[in-house]
Parts: sequence; structure tokens; C-alpha cells
Amino acid sequence: MQLRWARGDKMWLGVLLTLLLCSSLDGQENFFTINSIRMESLPDWTVQNGQNLTLQCIVDVSTTSQVKPQHLVEFYKDDELIYNVSSMENTESIFIPQARVYDSGMYKCTVTLNRKKKPTQEYQVSVRGVPSPRVTLDKREAIEGGVVMVNCSVPEEKAPIHFTVEKLELDTKNVKQKREKTSRDQNFVTLEFPVEEQDHVLIFRCQARITFGIRTEISESTRSDLVTVRESFSSPKFHISPTGLITEGDQLHVQCFVQVTHQPYEFPEIIIQKDKTIVANSRHSNGADYAVMAMMEHNGNYTCKVESSRISKVISIMVNITELFSKPKLETSSTRLDQGESLNLSCSILGAPPANFTIRKGDTIVSHSQNFSKIASGWDSGTYTCTAGIGKVVKKSNMVRIDVCEMLSKPRISLDARSEVIKGQTIEVSCQSISGTSPIFYQLLKANKVLESCNKSSNDPAVFKDNATKDVEYQCIADNCHSHTKMFSEVLRVKVVAPVDEVQISILLSEVVESGTDMVLRCFVNEGSAPITYRFYREKEGKPFHQVTLNDTQAFWRKPQATKDQEGQYYCTAFNRVSHPKSFPQSRKLTVRVVLASWKKGLIAVVVIGVIIAALVVGAKCYLLRKAEARQRPVEMSRPAAPLLNSNNEKMLDPSSETNSHYGYNDDVGNHAMKPVNENKEPLNLDVEYTEVEVSSAEPHRALGTKGTETLYSEIRKADCDFMENRSSRTEGSLDGT
Ligand SMILES: *[C@@H]1O[C@H](CO)[C@@H](O)[C@H](O)[C@H]1NC(C)=O
Ligand SMILES: *[C@@H]1O[C@H](CO)[C@@H](O)[C@H](O)[C@H]1NC(C)=O
Ligand SMILES: *[C@@H]1O[C@H](CO)[C@@H](O)[C@H](O)[C@H]1NC(C)=O
Ligand SMILES: *[C@@H]1O[C@H](CO)[C@@H](O)[C@H](O)[C@H]1NC(C)=O
Ligand SMILES: *[C@@H]1O[C@H](CO)[C@@H](O)[C@H](O)[C@H]1NC(C)=O
Ligand SMILES: *[C@@H]1O[C@H](CO)[C@@H](O)[C@H](O)[C@H]1NC(C)=O
Ligand SMILES: *[C@@H]1O[C@H](CO)[C@@H](O)[C@H](O)[C@H]1NC(C)=O
Ligand SMILES: *[C@@H]1O[C@H](CO)[C@@H](O)[C@H](O)[C@H]1NC(C)=O
Ligand SMILES: *[C@@H]1O[C@H](CO)[C@@H](O)[C@H](O)[C@H]1NC(C)=O
Ligand SMILES: *[C@@H]1O[C@H](CO)[C@@H](O)[C@H](O)[C@H]1NC(C)=O
Ligand SMILES: *[C@@H]1O[C@H](CO)[C@@H](O)[C@H](O)[C@H]1NC(C)=O
Repeated sequence: MQLRWARGDKMWLGVLLTLLLCSSLDGQENFFTINSIRMESLPDWTVQNGQNLTLQCIVDVSTTSQVKPQHLVEFYKDDELIYNVSSMENTESIFIPQARVYDSGMYKCTVTLNRKKKPTQEYQVSVRGVPSPRVTLDKREAIEGGVVMVNCSVPEEKAPIHFTVEKLELDTKNVKQKREKTSRDQNFVTLEFPVEEQDHVLIFRCQARITFGIRTEISESTRSDLVTVRESFSSPKFHISPTGLITEGDQLHVQCFVQVTHQPYEFPEIIIQKDKTIVANSRHSNGADYAVMAMMEHNGNYTCKVESSRISKVISIMVNITELFSKPKLETSSTRLDQGESLNLSCSILGAPPANFTIRKGDTIVSHSQNFSKIASGWDSGTYTCTAGIGKVVKKSNMVRIDVCEMLSKPRISLDARSEVIKGQTIEVSCQSISGTSPIFYQLLKANKVLESCNKSSNDPAVFKDNATKDVEYQCIADNCHSHTKMFSEVLRVKVVAPVDEVQISILLSEVVESGTDMVLRCFVNEGSAPITYRFYREKEGKPFHQVTLNDTQAFWRKPQATKDQEGQYYCTAFNRVSHPKSFPQSRKLTVRVVLASWKKGLIAVVVIGVIIAALVVGAKCYLLRKAEARQRPVEMSRPAAPLLNSNNEKMLDPSSETNSHYGYNDDVGNHAMKPVNENKEPLNLDVEYTEVEVSSAEPHRALGTKGTETLYSEIRKADCDFMENRSSRTEGSLDGT
């Protein structure tokens, strides 16, 4: 506003200058000013729809001039110029004949005088009410299934207009259908209404509403002309025959008829339904027929529907049928029979009227009489029914399930194909009754206790799994529906072969063996099936020195008259035919020591002392002899003594030759090796003691074979590897022979 006034000041200044200039030129100058400007509405700012309305713009101008100044008056509606006029009058007006809702709005006017422009404030013009709409119909008479076009319009008004059109039955208040539509660019709508089967005399009602701003103006309802509705076809009608009492066996007709009055070009469809089932239908005639021999199951509610594309007319009827005879009843004394028992079936009707009976098993007729009796066999199991007929009426009975139970054959028990059962393995025991009615209930007994049970729905074998731990007996029990008690199989004895487990070695008495006594090694196992092969080894030797196969969990090896040669570490292995061939279980190593018998120690001590004494004696003798020789030297005199000593030495003082010969080996190398020693040695030699030992026996070679001597030799010689090797190989050789 201030900006405007500031500009106005400048303008005024400019105008003044111009006027001054003009007056100085003309000598004539007029001043104008707009005092006020306002609007008036006749008759009021709010008018009813259709009233004439006059809007006035009233201007008050002051001037110095004699004549009224020419000024421009402009009318605006909602900021849009709607009318302008150049006038000298104080009041200018616009006339709106028959004001409509669309004339509502904000109005103002402006006055422009000598480039001075002044507006009024804005005035709101409201038009109340909407003219009643006009309803026109495309027809006065309609056919069911057809449509009526309803045109509803408000010609005085402008779009958008919202129309509500309702369909009513004459003289009732309930609206059968209501449709609404907003017409955006026309002041009318044309709506289609279907004509339904319940319609008789129709009337349509229309109402219009126009919204401007936040206000909505609503018209009165306008009613249309009447529309008379004519049936396209009549309501259907049932015709049931025979009329009156209907008895089973009668020929029943359920018919449904309809009268087609209009639309001869299209026959409606006729459907007869019982419950949800369509029992008859027709499309090209005015009736449908359901024909059937009356039975109890045809009792009930029948529905007839007549349908064209839009119309459906429905009626329903109850059909009552009188029962001729009751449903037959099939009975049996027992539904579960053993094979060989008699199977008795009896079919009967309440009141026992004369009738024809048929008894069936499945689809096969087994009897044409009321009763059926036979000796039951497995084949007779099944579902039985009977039918009873009187005249044309045949009725089916309930179903009776008969189970004939065949006795089980004695169950067979068997082990899976394997020839030998090894401990720890899982074995499969099969039980099978090859005949007899299934399901069969099997039980497996293990050592007279039930191990497992199972049901088989066929005669296939029942297979049980078990872990073999030891020799055990299995037995099967089979049972089925037969009243006979359980069937037992033979007893199956399973021998379990155990691999050798935990090999141990021990020596009898003590690990320290006196030479000359027996040395006995024992190899034993914790468990293992016979026969078990035992092998005895000496440490570092690849081959066993003793092997034996026994039906026992232990084996012995005896060495009579043990010598120092037997000292060492021993172990054994044991295996049987189910042992793993690459890793036979092996015992720990047992260390055996052989010591001299105490009496021998004593003997040796005595011998040593004796030898020393002898040596001393011989030494003294030699000394004396040499002394004598030195004096005389008669060589021949000393000769007789030497050969005696030599022959003794030659024969006995070679220990290796003696030992070998005892074992049957005459080792020349040993003899040669020892001979030079003997030759080199002085007569004062340890070998002398052996002479003593040998002398104690009757025969030199045999004496060495006896206990004492042998031990003594080994003691003195210490371990001779060759000797040991020879010995063990010989022992092994003899073992191989056995
Ligand atoms: C409204 O104006 C029309 C002329 O435009 C006139 O004929 C009519 O009589 C007027 N109606 C009323 C109620 O004054
Ligand atoms: C009135 O308005 C019309 C259209 O806007 C215009 O042509 C006409 O010149 C105006 N009349 C006056 C007197 O200004
Ligand atoms: C509906 O009626 C209006 C006026 O009554 C008319 O102008 C219009 O053409 C009609 N519409 C139809 C589809 O008949
Ligand atoms: C027969 O069925 C129709 C349709 O299901 C049902 O409207 C009618 O009430 C029924 N009539 C009787 C007697 O049950
Ligand atoms: C048919 O039976 C019903 C009862 O089941 C009975 O209400 C009805 O009246 C009977 N209708 C006729 C025609 O016998
Ligand atoms: C079946 O009938 C026979 C005679 O017909 C009778 O001996 C037998 O006991 C009956 N069997 C049963 C299970 O009732
Ligand atoms: C059938 O058996 C019933 C008893 O179960 C007996 O009353 C009837 O007479 C028998 N009918 C015939 C035809 O044998
Ligand atoms: C039984 O069947 C025979 C031969 O089909 C017929 O002649 C007879 O009338 C029937 N009996 C009854 C009671 O229906
Ligand atoms: C076998 O069948 C019988 C009877 O149906 C049932 O009692 C039992 O528990 C079943 N046994 C097994 C192991 O399935
Ligand atoms: C047999 O042994 C296996 C494992 O060694 C075990 O899982 C299974 O339960 C055993 N079966 C029986 C019947 O003991
Ligand atoms: C071990 O026993 C089996 C049968 O029991 C026998 O045939 C075999 O000869 C026995 N072996 C020995 C070495 O005793």
C-alpha cells in the first residue's frame, strides 16, 4: 500500500506537472478525484436460483470541471473481467437474469479515471438451490430382462453436476436400485437400469447436486413417468406324476414347465435340480422332465430353475415316496473266522416279504438264496453284500467284511548266507511263515528272551539284526489272526568265532632259570576260537622257534635242562583263522635269565682249586726236571711222560669240538681254531678242568649230552652266536616237521 501510494505521489506529481504545462498552454485545467467506489446487489447478495439479479458499481467522483468526466467501469467475477463500459454516470450495473449456481462467486468492479484506477472490495454472490432435474425415459413399457434408459438433466445449470437416480416399484418406498454419476462436462446423464423378474410397474427418481467452493446445493427429487414391466416367461410350474401316493417301483416323472410370453427368439434354460445335482435340463423347449423308477433315494426337495441371460425364476417342491420294503440286512455270526470254520451269511428284510435274494462277494454272485454257508478258506476273505428284489425294485444291503484267517506255517529261521559268524559282526536272522494270513507278528527270541518283534503285512521274511558276541540260540515266534496259539520255529544255534584277543607270555616258576632245570614258556590268550596257532619267538630272530596249533587258549614250550644258551627275550604270537593276516596279536617281551646251579658252582670251585694244585705240582716237577736236565740232559728219559699228557689234551681240551659234536656237528674249523691254542698253551691250561668233567662220565660223548656237562660248557664258553643259530635253526626245522 505504501509502495502504491509512493508511486501514486510520483504519478500525482507527474499529473500536476502535465496539468501545469497544459494550463500554461491552454489556460484551461480540470481536476478529478475518485472519492469512493462500491458495489450493490439487487435484490440481495444471496438469491434463489432463477431470480433476476442486478449488480451495481457506484462511483463518487469530484471534479473541478463543469462536465462529468468520462471514466471506465469494469466488472470482475472471480478476478476475470466479465463486463466493461465507458461511462459518465455514477452508477453502472450488470443484469444477470435467472441467476444460476454457476453465477455464484466473488465479484468486484474498478473505476479508471485519467489513469487513476480504483477497485472495490470483493463481494460474494450466492445462488441457493438447484432447479428440479428433468427425467426422461426411453420407453414406457419394458420386458423382464430388458433395460430402461433414464436421462436425467438440469438444462439451466452447467457441469459438473452429480446425479442420483433410483429405481422404485410403484407404491412402495424401497429402492430397488440406486445409481449415482457425476457428469463433468454435460448437464445430463443417461443411465441404464435392468428390468428384473420381480419388477412390475417401475418409477425412477432423480436428484441433482452442484458443488461450488465448500457448499453443495441440492435439487428436489423429480419422478419419472411409469414403466410397465411385462414377463418374458412365466414362473415355472412343477408337475409330478403319478399324482397322489408314490410308491417305490412306480415310474416317477418330475416335470417343470414354463410359459414364454415374450422374447420368442430365445428360450430360457430349464434346470431340474435335486439337492446340488442337476437331474434334468432343457434349452429348446418350454419344459424339462426327470423320469426315473421311484426309489427311496429319490425322495426330497426338487428345484426348478428357469434362466435366461438376465432372469432366473426358481421354485421347489418336496417329493415323497413310500417305501415298498426296507433295505435288506446282511448278517453274519462272525466277521473273523479261522480257516475251516463255517462261514454263515444271512440276508433278510424286515417283515420278511417274499423277495429274490442275491449274495455277492465283491462283484461276484456267490448265492441266489437268502442264506450262504460254506467252509471258510483264505479265498473267502472279502466284502460281502446282498440285494433283495421285489418286482422291479432291487435294494442293496449293508457291506459285511469277512476275514478268514489261514493258519501260519511253522516259521523258518535262518541266518544270512555267511558261513561263519565272527564276533562283533552284525548278523541277520530271518523268520518266515510262508503260508498263513498276514499281517504276521514275529518275535525273535535270543537265549529264550524276546529280542525284537515286528509286523509283516505279507509272507515275506522278517529280518532281525543282532550283534554276534558269543555262541547263542535264536528262535522265532509267529502269530496272526488265527485262533491257534503262536507258532514256534526250530532253534537256530549260532556259533560265533572270536578272533584272538590279548596274547600274553609267561614263564613257569621264575624268570630266572637255573641251568639244568626245565624252562617252560606259556603263551596264552584271553579269548579266541579254536584252533589257535601259537608261535614262539626269540628276540631278534625273524622266525619262530616253535609253532603249534591247539584247541586251547594256551600253549607251552618246554626246554629240558636249560643252559645259558636259552637266556634272552621271548615273545609269542597267536592267531586263528579269523585273525587279520597282517597283524597277529603279539605278547610283550619276556626276559629269561639262566644261572648256574649252585652245586655246579661248588664243583667248579673245587675243580679250579684242584687244577691250581695240579699246576703247582707239575710246575714244581718241571722245575726239578729241568734242573736235573741241566745237569745231565738225558732226553730219552723224559719221553714216556709226555705222550700221555698230549693224548689227553688232543682228545678233550677242545671245547668247541666237544660242543659241536654233542649237537651232531663236527666242525673242522672249530677244531683247527682250537688246536693251535692247545699247542701253544702251556700244559698249565684251564682246559684241564674239562678233562676232569669228562672223566666223571662213563663215555665222553654221551656225558657231554647230559645236563650238567652241557650247562657247564656254555657257562664257561659264554654265548657263542654260531652255536645259538645252529641250535635254533635246528629246533625250527624239527618243528616244521611236526
Ligand atoms: C426478470 O427479467 C425478465 C426480463 O429479462 C422479465 O421478463 C421478468 O419479468 C423478470 N422477472 C421478475 C420476477 O422480475
Ligand atoms: C472492453 O473490453 C474489450 C475486451 O476486453 C475491449 O475490446 C474494449 O476496448 C474495452 N472497452 C473499453 C471502453 O475499454
Ligand atoms: C437427455 O436430455 C437432455 C435434455 O433433456 C438432452 O439434451 C439430451 O440429449 C438427452 N440425452 C440423451 C442421451 O437422450
Ligand atoms: C428346497 O430347496 C430350496 C433351495 O435349496 C429351498 O429354498 C427350500 O426351502 C427347500 N424346501 C424345503 C421344503 O426344504
Ligand atoms: C412329504 O413329507 C413331508 C414330511 O417328510 C410332509 O411334511 C409333507 O407334507 C409330505 N408331502 C406330501 C405331498 O405328501
Ligand atoms: C453256520 O451254520 C452251521 C449250520 O448251517 C452251523 O453248524 C454253524 O455253527 C454256523 N456257524 C456259525 C459260526 O454260526
Ligand atoms: C435262512 O436262515 C435263517 C436263519 O438264519 C432262517 O430263518 C431262514 O429260514 C433261512 N432261509 C432259507 C431260505 O434257508
Ligand atoms: C423273483 O424272480 C423271478 C424270476 O426273475 C420272478 O418271476 C419273481 O416274480 C421274482 N419274485 C419277486 C418277489 O420279485
Ligand atoms: C504289531 O501289530 C500289533 C497289532 O496291530 C500291535 O499291537 C503291535 O504293537 C505291533 N508291533 C510292532 C512292533 O509294530
Ligand atoms: C550292534 O552294534 C552297533 C554298533 O557296534 C550298535 O549301534 C547296535 O545298536 C548294536 N545292535 C544290537 C542289537 O545290539
Ligand atoms: C580241534 O577240535 C576239532 C573239532 O573239535 C578237531 O577236529 C581237531 O582235530 C582238533 N584239533 C586238535 C589239534 O586237537
